[in-house]
Amino acid sequence: MPTHEAGWAHAEGALRPPGWLRTPDDPNALVPGLWSATAHKADGELVVGGVSVPDLVADVNTPAYVLDETDFRSRARAFREAFAAYDVFYAGKAFLCTTVARWVAEEGLCLDVCSDGELTVALRAGFDPARIGYHGNTKTEPELRRAVAVGVGRIIVDSFEEIERLGRVTTSLLSAGSVVGATRVMVRVTAGVEAHTHEYIATAHEDQKFGFSITSGDALEAVRRVVAEPALELLGLHSHIGSQIFDTSGFEVAARRVLALHAQVGTEIGVTMPELDLGGGFGIAYTTQDDPSDPAQLAVEMTKIVEHECHALDVAVPRLSVEPGRAIVGPAMCTVYTVGTVKRVELDKGAMRTYVSVDGGMSDNIRTALYDADYSCTLASRDSDARPVLSRVVGKHCEAGDVVVKDEFLPGDVRPGDLLAVPATGAYCRSMASNYNHALRPPVVAVRDGLATTLVRRETVDDLLATDLGAHSA
Ligand code: LLP
Repeated sequence: MPTHEAGWAHAEGALRPPGWLRTPDDPNALVPGLWSATAHKADGELVVGGVSVPDLVADVNTPAYVLDETDFRSRARAFREAFAAYDVFYAGKAFLCTTVARWVAEEGLCLDVCSDGELTVALRAGFDPARIGYHGNTKTEPELRRAVAVGVGRIIVDSFEEIERLGRVTTSLLSAGSVVGATRVMVRVTAGVEAHTHEYIATAHEDQKFGFSITSGDALEAVRRVVAEPALELLGLHSHIGSQIFDTSGFEVAARRVLALHAQVGTEIGVTMPELDLGGGFGIAYTTQDDPSDPAQLAVEMTKIVEHECHALDVAVPRLSVEPGRAIVGPAMCTVYTVGTVKRVELDKGAMRTYVSVDGGMSDNIRTALYDADYSCTLASRDSDARPVLSRVVGKHCEAGDVVVKDEFLPGDVRPGDLLAVPATGAYCRSMASNYNHALRPPVVAVRDGLATTLVRRETVDDLLATDLGAHSA
């Protein structure tokens, strides 16, 4: 992580683009592979879902998240079809609202939630609780009680305390007649694999908070305890190795270790577990550096890995599930901003950096500051003949590290009032948005076939003040 508060904002020497960023022949053109399926430019204006983004902005203002419904649905469907023999759980942490939960149900996917709040959204949307998986490394007793009482299909347990707590909660609901059967459980295991991704989003190496370690024997012990608890029904093991992963080699190592444990449970405890969850984490393209696999290719490779290992271990292939979040919603959304100022800053050795400030920032996309993530962007409201200039798009927050796009070539005449759009912001941008500096979180507007529908409205000052009790005293 950067040591200076402004981090990489303090470049030294001549201003050069990062090695991967090429000067575009035409800075007006959309970079291929980064945008949702229906996005294109028409006379310089970005059009998504048949809706002109400048026209949309005239209605809803900026910043705004624009969600391409057709793109979301087709990615969801592509996962369901490619992984037809699996259960596909859409990971709601990437982005969830009631309408999106309904799309997920209509496309035949299950849903992964990891908090009471996400569960509430799903239930409000009418999502079948039996098709919901509930995650979290520390779930409280009231949270577990509610999940069991509403009939959540599987709870992924992550600690010895939770196994005991969940057993107790289920037993009391069973004796009250509030539920009829045992709670179906998966045991989250740590496979000791370091996925090739940023440290904060790699979750299967040993030194982190998630899961039971296979190596230490905790995972086998957790399975023993679940089996010994009559109020719990063991479905299988769960392994999630990280996020924004591009090749299946990490899954391969993890699957080998997890399946070895799966087989060991059969031989040592005498239990054949019917299922196995391989988690999510499939990467998407944020910039031209990223080269994601398509779901069909992933499904073929992952199935081959599991079948090969099961054959070698002489165990039946369990029913498999995966939990893609980012790969479904990430590319389906873009964020639109209005340019507020353009500042040219002289760096060392006379190089100049162009800072383009927009009306959002780290409150609507924390990923650049938090993970050093790269993004791209385009001028969304007009064509320009100006030569491409390496630019940095920054937000309006009181923090030097408030950067949205570290490096992109934009036309050299970008000016206040222009619209900029950043692709691939569907995952972990709105869901991690904050009210930093009392910013109002932007709306999510779905576009499809020329129609725009606001799914989540922009926050208002009244929303901001609603929890500030001093604001309501005379
Ligand atoms: N399943 C489990 C158990 C998970 O923990 C996650 C993500 C997923 C599935 C979905 O992963 P995906 O397919 O979306 O990569 N805030 C970070 C990502 C955190 C991911 C947390 N868990 C980011 O902005 O990159």
